[in-house]
Amino acid sequence: MVRLIVDAARGSYPVIIGSEVHRELRNLVRRLDPSSAVIVTDSNVRPWAHRVAKAIKPSGVKPSIYVVPAGERSKSMTALHDVLAFFERQKIDRAGLVIAVGGGTVGDLAGFAASVWLRGIRVVAVPTTLLAMVDSSVGGKTGVNGVRSKNAIGTFWPPSAVVADMACLETLPPVNYRDAFAEVVKYGVAMDRGIFELLQKECERLRARDRRALERVVFRCVTAKALVVARDERERGPRAILNYGHTAGHALEAASRFRVSHGRAVAFGMRVAAKIALSLELCGPRLVEAQDALLTEYGLPDRSPAVDPARVLAAIEHDKKARRGRVAWVMPRRLGHAEPGHVVPAGVVRRFVRKALA
Ligand SMILES: NC(=O)c1ccc[n+]([C@@H]2O[C@H](COP(=O)([O-])OP(=O)(O)OC[C@H]3O[C@@H](n4cnc5c(N)ncnc54)[C@H](O)[C@@H]3O)[C@@H](O)[C@H]2O)c1
Ligand SMILES: [Zn+2]
Repeated sequence: MVRLIVDAARGSYPVIIGSEVHRELRNLVRRLDPSSAVIVTDSNVRPWAHRVAKAIKPSGVKPSIYVVPAGERSKSMTALHDVLAFFERQKIDRAGLVIAVGGGTVGDLAGFAASVWLRGIRVVAVPTTLLAMVDSSVGGKTGVNGVRSKNAIGTFWPPSAVVADMACLETLPPVNYRDAFAEVVKYGVAMDRGIFELLQKECERLRARDRRALERVVFRCVTAKALVVARDERERGPRAILNYGHTAGHALEAASRFRVSHGRAVAFGMRVAAKIALSLELCGPRLVEAQDALLTEYGLPDRSPAVDPARVLAAIEHDKKARRGRVAWVMPRRLGHAEPGHVVPAGVVRRFVRKALA
């Protein structure tokens, strides 16, 4: 088991990474000493929520459990309203605690609800997907989707603690597990060459969900994310590096009307970004080849999704991260190092997006 501390403007918080970490969870809740607690979870993760409730029982806290339907649709204003109504019925006061047990969907919804209930109460994240462990549970972004726009409504509300238990990953559906590796490869290419090498070396173990190997990967990804988030909590500058692969990736996701999953779209986005970087002589061919090979090894093959390139290009234009009409690309320079803020000529973008979808 390892513990690392993430700095946030509202105070730092621990991230505990291990296997079967019930005791740590119990001690943590004891230290937080809440007046009462609510576990927010989804219909697929309910057994893990019960495990968490049982684990913390000896601390004297008996949490109530609120279950939302599994899936992105629970990240809505309607679902938020229902969660808050539950808090109200349970008479959760300012010293109350929310425990989010689930993937990024539950984490974003429960974190948002905690941030606005009584102007903000504490939340502990127990991520149960690999994506939530390496990405969404750390950094303090919460929120729900607007009617048309993803993540449009939200807050910055860092958790009081994150407890990532590798045991949870055993029941995760294979597609969800595989997709998360797109984000892990992202950290390796854009921020930490050590992660890239770990992925190369431990491929077999990681594909078999070996807990020890997973702990190491999660630890390094959380460290990478924590370092940028500590410098730039509100995404005014350096945090943009986490968007590597997401410019073309988000565009593909939106253009496919979310038929292409986020992970596959980010893998596509990284392949496109690296090829653009190579053509602009920002990186060498070895990086492109190594990245492509690693993505393929983790089950994210270079198969072109059947999406109209014109729609993807239009979506890139609408990139919400576009500043004054310009899209800022994150470009890889060498393994483990990327740079945000690159403006890529429209003709180059067109050429590589069309080629990737041919
Ligand atoms: N806040 C952030 O910084 C941030 C960052 C990245 C992504 N996100 C958000 O995270 C969400 C995606 O997260 P996700 O990929 O974790 O999806 P998810 O939470 O929807 O989980 C995916 C599926 O797996 C199921 N599941 C979760 N854990 C399980 C387990 N241990 N065993 C069996 N089934 C399990 C869920 O019920 C769901 O059906 C998106 O809404 C995205 O916008 C937020
Ligand atoms: Zn992502």
